[in-house]
Amino acid sequence: MSEEPDSTAVRTALWRGLHTLVDDPPHVLDDAIGVEIAGVDETWRARPDMDPARTRANRASIVARARAVEDTVIASGAGQYVILGAGLDTFAQRHKGPVRVFEIDASATQAWKRARLVQLGLLDSTRLHLVPVDFEAGESWLDKAVEAGLDPAVPTVVSMLGVTMYLTPEAISTTLRQSASLAAGSIMVFSYSRPIEMAPPEVRPILEGAAKGAAASGHPWLSLLTPDQAAGLARQAGFADVEVVTSTELHERYFAHRHDGLSPVGGEDLVIATAGGDHISPE
Ligand SMILES: C[S@@+](CC[C@H](N)C(=O)[O-])C[C@H]1O[C@@H](n2cnc3c(N)ncnc32)[C@H](O)[C@@H]1O
Repeated sequence: MSEEPDSTAVRTALWRGLHTLVDDPPHVLDDAIGVEIAGVDETWRARPDMDPARTRANRASIVARARAVEDTVIASGAGQYVILGAGLDTFAQRHKGPVRVFEIDASATQAWKRARLVQLGLLDSTRLHLVPVDFEAGESWLDKAVEAGLDPAVPTVVSMLGVTMYLTPEAISTTLRQSASLAAGSIMVFSYSRPIEMAPPEVRPILEGAAKGAAASGHPWLSLLTPDQAAGLARQAGFADVEVVTSTELHERYFAHRHDGLSPVGGEDLVIATAGGDHISPE
């Protein structure tokens, strides 16, 4: 396999898997398949970025955002789900219902994932459509997804988790605008990271380390957003209804009854935005 996957996508998949292995049940998300797709050797748990104690906040944030999106998809009743910057997302493998899934990602990571899914016998091409798009290259994810079979006239859920920080503000706005042009009732959920100085003091060193690690691995954080900026981008893109769900609210929703102290507070927030069906040019 010549292509290499995006290292940040592998890391978040491993954190989801780590959650099922080291955190107490009930798990916020049960995703062991991502580790299988990652195809890492048995030493993966000894990686410094997989230290169970040091990475608690990170994996809590990653499973919280994934669970919130999956709950949104299921509650919406939508028949189409688009995952922007899908990485090693495994919704399509874990949810066998009628939802058609369109995964959008950069071509190298996606080609690598396709090969892994084929190798593992996990690629169901009747439900899962893999669409290569580079959000920074002026390509329209919407046009490419429609070419692959997406119906833009029916309500759709679109997610973009753990991606905005790696994009320029212009690329974020373009991807949001294309999402806002979908049928009325379509829902977009995206996560964003706040500027480090907004985080609780005890979380700041973790974020500073993560920012340095991201830059060193060739994936610098380009866009950190305040809640107002994130909501503002969604409104400017044309969404009719925009709600911010903070990491504290995600804690209340999914972690408040845990006894192991696992919490996503200080990690990524979400914006949940609903399209109103006004004519929005996706350009
Ligand atoms: C941190 S990973 C998140 C993956 C997945 N959403 C998750 O939550 O595990 C970031 C993903 O965004 C994708 N990505 C980053 N920049 C991109 C771009 N310019 N165009 C398309 N995909 C991009 C990467 O390939 C990677 O899969």
